[in-house]
Amino acid sequence: MQSNPIHPRGLSLVMADITRLDVEAIVNAANSSLLGGGGVDGAVHGAAGPELLKECRHIGGCPTGEARITKGYLLPAKWVIHTVGPVWHAGSFGEDELLARCYKSCFSLADRYGIKSIAFPAISAGAYGFPMQRACRIALSEMKAFLEGGGRQRGVEVIAVSYSLDAYQCYQRTLLEL
Ligand code: APR
Repeated sequence: MQSNPIHPRGLSLVMADITRLDVEAIVNAANSSLLGGGGVDGAVHGAAGPELLKECRHIGGCPTGEARITKGYLLPAKWVIHTVGPVWHAGSFGEDELLARCYKSCFSLADRYGIKSIAFPAISAGAYGFPMQRACRIALSEMKAFLEGGGRQRGVEVIAVSYSLDAYQCYQRTLLEL
């Protein structure tokens, strides 16, 4: 999969399987049970191995918009930050704010753990039905706000991971508009 950093100063866009990235933390688009699922959730648990689910069981779930951190086990990443995105309901139930809160929650955990590189999938833009363009805009706005709000000074690298060319091009276009 190609990667093509757009903003070398802390933010890059890559097209990749997030479970293969050698970064300190990858973000998992989980559900509120934290007990696994399909999509990136299934890929993360599949690559991390059964110990991840064991640790998740002890957490006891996660509300939409919040995030929880676990070890990465068999993943190259040391940490997995699990966040629960909103299900898209035509945008009239505060979905935008909840999705933005997912990114904020992940960044605050990353800061608390001194994480210097964090990769995000397109949270909610798969099974949860969030329109990709809208999800990209919220993701990139929050990433830029974090980096400009001190993340860059702390040397944090943020990676927006696409799993398809469409998604990658959506991130590219959206980033140029911000
Ligand atoms: N690496 C990077 N991105 C991936 C990967 C992967 N291995 N697999 C899927 N994606 C992308 C999808 O293409 C989509 O753009 O992640 C984005 C989010 O899709 P989902 O994984 O379906 O997550 P989401 O829309 O947030 O739905 C979460 O799905 O898997 C269940 O348990 C999960 O109930 C929860 C729901």
